[in-house]
Amino acid sequence: MAVQPFPSPLRYPGGKLKVANYVKLLFTLNNLLDGDYAEPYAGGCSVALSLLFGQYASRIFINDIDPDVFAFWHSVLNETDALVKLIADAPVHMPEWRVKRHFLDHPLDEDTLLQRGFGAFYLNRTNRSGIIRGGVIGGQDQKGKWGVDARFNKPELISRIEKIARYRDRIHLTNDDALVFLKNLKPKLQKRSLIYLDPPYFNKGEGLYTNAYGPEEHKDVAKAVAQLRTPWIVSYDTTERILELYSKFEKIEYNLFHSAANHVDEAHIVKLAAAAKAAQLRLESGITEPATEDKEEPKPRRRGKEVMFFSKGLLRPDRIDDPSGVSAKQLNQLSLAL
Ligand SMILES: C[S@@+](CC[C@H](N)C(=O)[O-])C[C@H]1O[C@@H](n2cnc3c(N)ncnc32)[C@H](O)[C@@H]1O
Repeated sequence: MAVQPFPSPLRYPGGKLKVANYVKLLFTLNNLLDGDYAEPYAGGCSVALSLLFGQYASRIFINDIDPDVFAFWHSVLNETDALVKLIADAPVHMPEWRVKRHFLDHPLDEDTLLQRGFGAFYLNRTNRSGIIRGGVIGGQDQKGKWGVDARFNKPELISRIEKIARYRDRIHLTNDDALVFLKNLKPKLQKRSLIYLDPPYFNKGEGLYTNAYGPEEHKDVAKAVAQLRTPWIVSYDTTERILELYSKFEKIEYNLFHSAANHVDEAHIVKLAAAAKAAQLRLESGITEPATEDKEEPKPRRRGKEVMFFSKGLLRPDRIDDPSGVSAKQLNQLSLAL
């Protein structure tokens, strides 16, 4: 199940590629392999694509309310050749950057999804941290260490786009509000499914994304999540309010950018394998209640800047206390054992 390290052509602020291996472990441990995977706040889609390419999920449902992000993914899936040609032919310099910025800032009814999608991609690859409405790499005067074209490796980006397009039949793209998406999703998902919600940050959301939430909206999301019947995970920046909203659920707090090594030994791998088998048996016999060991008191966890919450009954590799620190080697060892 080897996967190229960067499945997404977008650089995404708050992108969660680092937790992809952990989500793969959740898939294996909870007997979700070949199931569906859904992300209501998909952004750069790197976790979803990683699961699809690694043959963990058989279908992915990706949704984002941002019209520019949607236009990009729509173009990848439905206008691949035209998008690839635009990228191949694009000059990557400041005069063109200014054209693209003006274009995205002044939308017209006659703009096509391809034009908008390409504009969003261009700014994502040429702006600092991939923030579409942010500042250009190297600054307006281009006196920085890196220039506007530093992250615009055309052959590599085109190859990622073409690979995604080859999977188009398994990718379901929408442009809805997350709560509407969740409502519509229910009848489409098969029994083995996982939903990963990565809403805009509570504190830093504004400025990073075109669409951010206010405190009331975060509360509405928590309410909708609590009603989900499909297994889910939610990730956030750690704030008192978010901890309070999800206080009924198990959680791991971690630091997305400074991951500590996870402690996994042979004995633990054996234990995980047994847990996965038990999950399989419970699923086959129609039992949806969590196993007794799932109800154990959660061990105290290291506090960090990010937090991940888990739906009740979702088995997780309990000695891995940093979802962003699962290496490919650990994933392979554990997957073989499971
Ligand atoms: C933290 S980012 C998600 C990043 C993503 N997990 C990744 O790895 O790239 C949050 C995303 O939610 C989207 N968003 C904001 N409000 C939304 C809403 N009401 N419904 C759906 N998406 C929304 C933003 O456009 C942004 O792409």
